[in-house]
Amino acid sequence: MPDLWQDAMDHAVSLARTAGTLVREAVQNDMKEKFPTHSFIGEESVAAGEPCKLSDSPTWIVDPVDGTTNFVHGYPFVAVSIGFAVNKKLEFGVVYSCIEDKMYTARRGKGAFCNGQPLQVSDQKEINQSIIATEFGSDRHVEVVDKIFSSMRNILCLPVHGIRGVGSAAINMCLVASGCVEAYYEMGIHCWDIAAGVVIVEEAGGVLMDVDGGPLDLMSRRVIAANNKMIAERISEQIDACAPLRDDAS
Ligand code: IPD
Repeated sequence: MPDLWQDAMDHAVSLARTAGTLVREAVQNDMKEKFPTHSFIGEESVAAGEPCKLSDSPTWIVDPVDGTTNFVHGYPFVAVSIGFAVNKKLEFGVVYSCIEDKMYTARRGKGAFCNGQPLQVSDQKEINQSIIATEFGSDRHVEVVDKIFSSMRNILCLPVHGIRGVGSAAINMCLVASGCVEAYYEMGIHCWDIAAGVVIVEEAGGVLMDVDGGPLDLMSRRVIAANNKMIAERISEQIDACAPLRDDAS
């Protein structure tokens, strides 16, 4: 039987690559010209063998296309995510949800905004009145998938109002900042998926945590972003944690 959609899918993959390359080159070249002493960590540069080490020097942490699978399938949540750290501390974050045309921005100490409008996390304190965002991730090893399912089952049965996920870590974090969902957690993400969102969530009044309840470690590939510590801790208690290979492992 002929594969009707392979041609369309090949075209989508090539489009995704073209768009990603365009954004990556624009950001990387522009940044190198404008800030020649700065460092760069990005999904494509790391895939090309460049190091993924956060040093004290000003560092751009960039995902040109967060939500690649969405993009390939035309699922309408795709973002450009740009975080900026100095002395290993994130200073600003920009997430552009391209299809929705929503520009999320936050600078440390100066608030978080969407298209210029201030953002504030939800004031909900009850987990059973909360919506939690998460993703299934991209790891298909059965032991990892089992942990993802058992964590999700535990959280669903707390109970919570619902579980959602738009297929982009950066946009999920912006939804926490916007107050639409109380929290987002995931294991298996990368630093470039969440760096910008970290500042946006914090500046909207939210908190970040590791899935084990400790402080967030940007390179650990695990995150909880929540409207408050209470909700973050309730989620952390339910997570069957796994430890993906750290971003800075090699
Ligand atoms: C992915 C998305 C997705 C998340 C994955 C990420 P990518 O980023 O953020 O929502 O579940 O863990 O890797 O690959 O589209 O840049």
